[in-house]
Amino acid sequence: MNVPHDHINPSPAINFNILPITSRIEKHHLFIGNCDTIELASSFGTPLYILDEVTIRQKCTEFLTEFQKRYPNTTVIYACKAFINRSMASLLKTEGLGLDVCSAGEINIAASVQFPSDKLYFHGNNKTVDELALALKENIGCIVVDNLYELALLSDIATKTKKKQDIMLRICPGIDPHTHKYTTTGTIDSKFGLHISTGQAEEAIIRAISAPNINLVGLHCHLGSPIFETAPFKQAIELMLEFAAQMKSKHNLRLLKFSPGGGFAIQYKADSPSLPIADYAEVITSTLIKKSYELNLDPPKLIIEPGRSIIGQAGVALYTVGSIKEIPEVRKYILVDGGMTDNIRHALYNAKYEAIVANKAGQEATERVTISGRACESGDILVQDITLPRISPGDIIAIPSCGAYCISMSSNYNMFFRPTVIVVNNGKARITQRRETIQDIMRRDVLMDTN
Ligand SMILES: Cc1ncc(COP(=O)(O)O)c(C=O)c1O
Repeated sequence: MNVPHDHINPSPAINFNILPITSRIEKHHLFIGNCDTIELASSFGTPLYILDEVTIRQKCTEFLTEFQKRYPNTTVIYACKAFINRSMASLLKTEGLGLDVCSAGEINIAASVQFPSDKLYFHGNNKTVDELALALKENIGCIVVDNLYELALLSDIATKTKKKQDIMLRICPGIDPHTHKYTTTGTIDSKFGLHISTGQAEEAIIRAISAPNINLVGLHCHLGSPIFETAPFKQAIELMLEFAAQMKSKHNLRLLKFSPGGGFAIQYKADSPSLPIADYAEVITSTLIKKSYELNLDPPKLIIEPGRSIIGQAGVALYTVGSIKEIPEVRKYILVDGGMTDNIRHALYNAKYEAIVANKAGQEATERVTISGRACESGDILVQDITLPRISPGDIIAIPSCGAYCISMSSNYNMFFRPTVIVVNNGKARITQRRETIQDIMRRDVLMDTN
């Protein structure tokens, strides 16, 4: 399956780095996992999300290999928020990854496929009492505590239920990873984590060490996402380990586990390449080894939390073109049958994508268009200003790099139904999430007596 892309790309206009690794163009049709996307669109309807199993599994292997060959004591946990359902959780279990879960919903998905609970890390900046209680009941391996309030709540619940819970503390290091403001999480003005600068991080360490039902095993930080550079990781690791060394000498902190989070970038645009996973692995592991040695710390277990970089490239969204609206000398809108309700990333933070006319792939690109959805919002844009082959109603638009943070952030705005998600592999397509129906929506709608 790992055919070098330049051997199968007949068209210089299509950049295969943004497509699943099994993609190819044949007779101007886009194929993924040996399936013709035009046939998939007609069998399953659109909007349709296609996930390429080979790409997902390959990314899992790449993360494990690149980190563990440099630093054997690494655990890779997948950030479920990128996209999760039962099939995905099962697949990750077979690939040997753990999970970063951040809600009761995600804990329940993991439990439903008997995901090993010691490989679950529970995140979140405002976990509820019920969620913390559920985490203890499910014997979650580690809770990543975000603030002092949560530490007190957890300590209380653990005492009442006579459990001793492993925790890491999420530290806010005050480092800018140079990504969108809305997806930056480790700078000073952040709702996430315990700040070193305000003394809260130290206070949490003191309280956690003295809490009888809490077992503090390490420190965590997550800078933001997507991060296209390695320098912020180096900076964060150095700062975090220096802090850990201080806390060791002052409070006898044992740094058994350490996580610099996730946030590894993928390529969305043809002209904005992302770094290979190996580059992140090299900087993270070499900094960790060097700094631990310098500070006389025992090298901790390394926890890596990729989400987007496992599933992002594997996903392609398909839409059918409906109406086309041309405003002379202003803009030509290509209106498709999905939009911000299945992919809110452009509307939310101006995310940029490429697009391919899946039934005219590789044909000469002649017109400048904007691809827009059908929600009642002018901001419902998927791709702004892109040059594509001439498009007609009924054509199928494919948007690559859609595996992460699209379906997981989708909504029912305008009472649209969330799309079907299929997994393709070796010429077979299987539904992993069926299209929502009016019955799904009606099931939670309660008709009140209004007389
Ligand atoms: C704590 C934490 N870890 C990992 C991730 C995963 O980020 P990404 O999907 O960009 O790898 C996130 C994303 O928001 C996060 O909040």
